[in-house]
Amino acid sequence: MGRTHARIIAREEQAELVGCADPVSDAAAHEFGVPHFSDHHALLAMTGLDAVIISNPNSFHVETALDCLAAGVPALLEKPVAINFAEARLLAAAAAASATPILVGHHRRHHPAVSAARSLIASGGLGRIVAVNGLWLTRKPDSYFEQRWHRSAGAGVMLINLVHDLDLLRHLCGEIVSIQASTSNALRGHEVEETASVIFEFENGALGSFLISDAAVSPWGWDQNTEDDPTYPFNPSVSCYSIAGTRGSLAFPQMAHFSHPGRADGIAADWTHPLSLSFDATGTGDSYTNQLRHFVAVVRGEAVPLVSVSDAAATLALIEAAQTAAVTGVAQRIPL
Ligand SMILES: NC(=O)c1ccc[n+]([C@@H]2O[C@H](COP(=O)([O-])OP(=O)(O)OC[C@H]3O[C@@H](n4cnc5c(N)ncnc54)[C@H](O)[C@@H]3O)[C@@H](O)[C@H]2O)c1
Repeated sequence: MGRTHARIIAREEQAELVGCADPVSDAAAHEFGVPHFSDHHALLAMTGLDAVIISNPNSFHVETALDCLAAGVPALLEKPVAINFAEARLLAAAAAASATPILVGHHRRHHPAVSAARSLIASGGLGRIVAVNGLWLTRKPDSYFEQRWHRSAGAGVMLINLVHDLDLLRHLCGEIVSIQASTSNALRGHEVEETASVIFEFENGALGSFLISDAAVSPWGWDQNTEDDPTYPFNPSVSCYSIAGTRGSLAFPQMAHFSHPGRADGIAADWTHPLSLSFDATGTGDSYTNQLRHFVAVVRGEAVPLVSVSDAAATLALIEAAQTAAVTGVAQRIPL
């Protein structure tokens, strides 16, 4: 992920890569032609540094971010914000007490279709949200799991990937107040799950379900259904979220908006009436580039982070609750 950020920085006028800290390898520093530091403390002490992007393994996120706060260097911190809620809360408290900003890398929130869907829902365009369904099913390469941390506690498809989807569903449809989950590692037998099925309830009473797996070949999922990252072949023909309300529904990210044209006699339309389909307009750009531009504005003091540490911690609380539910079989309530 650090290389993806470096490639995006390379094509942006407003940002410049000045160094790379990695205790394991200097390959990325060589690839991008910048000085290598064998630990992030040395990088934080260099002159000419305005900000950092933290893309190390999940278990190092909090200590690295705390060091950035101590050094007064703004950070874009990759998701998940931490590997458990207790750590996330600790960082949220430190961030709230500091003048140095941290933006958490839930990049999808910067996607133009997300802003369009959020506005449509917030303006009541779908009526009251009733039900939400989502899919993220894809097959990661076997080589991905050669990294030990990718198959150990602190990773897994819920913490690495579902965290994006639950963050987005919170952003679009409101807070989630309870969650139940089943997980499976039947294929790879790793310590962490490869597949999860999750059901949840939103604060307004709407219900949701999500199926996720990094071991299944399919066209359904954010990465296949947006052109966000050219690494993943684009499949525009199917959607990854269905969001249904009392006045209409949305196939996302296509922004395919289904609604009843309405009845002249004022009686609410129902399933016996034809549906019309329209495609709502969105802005442009990919979410990684938009996120970097937002981060530059945050560093310059022109914007506040779209995703704060406490916001990301609330999403992490959901993942932790889903992990507990999967182990105990008991649905978990989320304190708001
Ligand atoms: N936003 C996204 O879409 C997205 C996508 C992929 C990964 N990520 C996040 O980016 C982060 C990195 O994930 P990745 O898949 O690129 O991991 P990776 O293992 O491929 O890369 C991690 C890098 O961190 C280095 N590193 C730094 N400090 C280290 C330490 N103390 N011990 C070991 N390695 C250290 C490693 O050498 C390696 O270069 C994770 O937090 C992950 O969740 C985000």
